[in-house]
Amino acid sequence: MTGRRLPAPVICVDGPSGSGKGSLATALAERLGWRYLESGALYRVIGAMALERGVATDDEAALASLAQGLDIELAGEGAQADGIDLTERIRDEDVAAAASEAARHPQVRQAILTQQRRAAETAAAEPPAEGTPGLVADGRDMGTVVFPDAELKIFLDASAEERAQRRYKQLRNKGMTVNLRNVLANIRDRDARDKGRAASPLQPASDAVIIDSTDMTITDVLRQALALVRERGLA
Ligand code: C5P
Repeated sequence: MTGRRLPAPVICVDGPSGSGKGSLATALAERLGWRYLESGALYRVIGAMALERGVATDDEAALASLAQGLDIELAGEGAQADGIDLTERIRDEDVAAAASEAARHPQVRQAILTQQRRAAETAAAEPPAEGTPGLVADGRDMGTVVFPDAELKIFLDASAEERAQRRYKQLRNKGMTVNLRNVLANIRDRDARDKGRAASPLQPASDAVIIDSTDMTITDVLRQALALVRERGLA
């Protein structure tokens, strides 16, 4: 906490891939009538554009300059960069890997920090129709770096095996041919990179509430999160 006031109340939902943070964050935003920021989509857009433009994911300066120059728009499920529709592309596994490689670099993280913080200003100035000012932001470092003064920080975790199972089912439901062992290996690789990096590693903020969703349904998780929201006087 830095004691600085945010333009609108903010709830952070951080956690590793497949922990269910996206489902929780979108459900909370919908219930509260607040805006939603999926920060992982910003990193995924950078990963997709790096692959598209042949920028190596170990070239920090080139990636940062790519990130600074991109005009990124996220709207609901939709994602665009410089007018190119990346909605489907950013969900691909090669893009997820490129995103997590690009996200290791401090200059890349710095390049999108302002855009992430601007989401709280937009939430204050332009709440959703019939909603109220407020932002639910999900990612890895929402509570530790981007919004250290958030009113509520949730760190959603689950075992790697459970997260792999969920991701496997999702991909199968999309009609994709996948192998559970590969999905688990991808999750473990991404965990290692996200937790092991020097810049904004994945870790709970000291004032975060940790929820382990391994044996919980999304309904249970949402119920627990809504109880915290009420406790903090946010609804
Ligand atoms: O959340 P999602 O899995 O879509 O994020 C893709 C990648 O972007 C993550 O593996 C992580 O490396 C990176 N990321 C990050 N910080 C965030 C959100 C995502 O480093 N706040």
